[in-house]
Amino acid sequence: MRVYVLNGPNLGRLGTRQVDVYGTTSYADLVALCERTGRELGLDVVVRQTDAEHDLIGWLHSAADEAAAVVLNPAAWSHYSIAVRDACALLRGPLVEVHISNIHAREEFRRHSVVSAVATGVICGLGPDGYRLALHHLAAIRDQSA
Ligand code: DQA
Repeated sequence: MRVYVLNGPNLGRLGTRQVDVYGTTSYADLVALCERTGRELGLDVVVRQTDAEHDLIGWLHSAADEAAAVVLNPAAWSHYSIAVRDACALLRGPLVEVHISNIHAREEFRRHSVVSAVATGVICGLGPDGYRLALHHLAAIRDQSA
């Protein structure tokens, strides 16, 4: 079962970016965590990050064609990109939206995600562990439907 783990703008700077908010786990560490978790669960995990909205929309279209599920941290696009939301809405499998920080405990403009209404579920505030949990959930629903 192929799962895309997609990350939006500035997440490539994890580890040095606002460490008080996002912690010291680097983006490379995050990729390693997702790939290791995927191997443990028997998921074919593809992890990507982009600062270009066009890339993310293209990957979501590819996911609709060939991935069973998506884990997405839309980063700042969460809060205003109707284009990203619309691309999420055309997915056919489950979509787990992940935020490293607790967006509800931060600035007002971060408390609403335009993506959440079209996501299957949302994990936020659990740090990089949110990605691991999202992958465990997807493996569990795969196993339940087997
Ligand atoms: C984020 C939260 C967003 O508000 C922010 O723009 C990000 C990261 C998170 O993972 O906590 O870039 O999605």
